[in-house]
Amino acid sequence: MTTIKTIGILGAGQLGRMIAVAAAQMGIRAHVFAPDAKDSPAAEVAQTFTQANYDDADALAAFGRSIDAVTSEFENVPATTMDMLAAFCPVSPGHDALHLAQNRLREKTLASNLGIQTPSFWVARSADDLASALCDLKGNGVLKTTEQGYDGRGQFRVATGDDAASCWNDINTNEAILESFIDFTAEVSFLVWRDTKGQTGVFPATLNTHKNGILATSIGPATSLDPSTLKDGADAVIALAEAVNLNGILAMEAFVSHAGHIIFNEIAPRPHNSFHWTIEGCVTSQFAQLVRIISGLGPGDTSARGSWQMDNLLGEDLHRLPALYADANKAVHLYGKTKARNGRKMGHVTWELG
Ligand SMILES: Nc1ncnc2c1ncn2[C@@H]1O[C@H](COP(=O)(O)OP(=O)(O)OP(=O)(O)O)[C@@H](O)[C@H]1O
Ligand SMILES: [Mg+2]
Repeated sequence: MTTIKTIGILGAGQLGRMIAVAAAQMGIRAHVFAPDAKDSPAAEVAQTFTQANYDDADALAAFGRSIDAVTSEFENVPATTMDMLAAFCPVSPGHDALHLAQNRLREKTLASNLGIQTPSFWVARSADDLASALCDLKGNGVLKTTEQGYDGRGQFRVATGDDAASCWNDINTNEAILESFIDFTAEVSFLVWRDTKGQTGVFPATLNTHKNGILATSIGPATSLDPSTLKDGADAVIALAEAVNLNGILAMEAFVSHAGHIIFNEIAPRPHNSFHWTIEGCVTSQFAQLVRIISGLGPGDTSARGSWQMDNLLGEDLHRLPALYADANKAVHLYGKTKARNGRKMGHVTWELG
């Protein structure tokens, strides 16, 4: 008799769903834990679903006893939740990675301490702080909440000369980060894996295009970039993984400057939307690699088989489905969300570039 392993997944969105599907393909079960029951893409493909809050100690203990390892599909799960689960099983991505990814100021400070170039940045905890930061900015910037933003929410463009009091009012938070606006030539993301033995490796990098602050298209591998730019990005993401003692996978979003330099934007210690093309495009997908690492199966080969494009399918894109299904070259993924809204990620489509 073989023992079937079970991985725990915190969060019930599409990333959790794709982790659970990858696990199922390897004969590994998934137990999803999330507070929300409705429209839970991951819960409907998992063996078990626990609906409870992330601070429910009893539910977490029962969950912890039922699994062999746990990971999180999003970075805003409280670090204390992971700490509680660490008493029961190995945790991914680990306390330090989560703590780091929950705050943009911490992320940029660490990147900068590691010698990774970032936009110039200033912290603002009051309208007065913001007034002096806007003065120092000397040009265009982006004002972001330090915590909880995603898909471009919680941020807007500002410039020196803007009224600090009204910007502070608009951002409506206790702590914000002002960043210089980067006139980038490209946006690129890097994905590193790291296991408990400290082995690391990177996936091929991806070129990204955003629309309205939301990822629209990813193309991988990013072969149009200079090899030295790609090496700098890979070195940077590995350094970040080491610095947080990563167990699992971690993505770094970056800008490419006109001089070909990598400029750090943010990290996500989990599967990343810009690497969904790896499901069809790499020997081992980002989801399979995460499952392999946390289940102790050892890392797989992450090299690409050809060149690939992925387009996100938002609520407003669903009219494209019949044409996509009719195209033999397109792999359509839907996340099982019942409510389609404009700007909501409903699925994605991947195809090989000629
Ligand atoms: N300093 C900057 N200079 C130029 N463009 C920026 C800057 N910061 C953000 N952007 C643009 O806005 C997009 C979203 O920003 P960011 O990644 O910080 O937000 P987010 O809400 O975490 O987004 P997501 O969840 O999609 O990753 C970036 O991918 C980039 O296109
Ligand atoms: Mg981002």
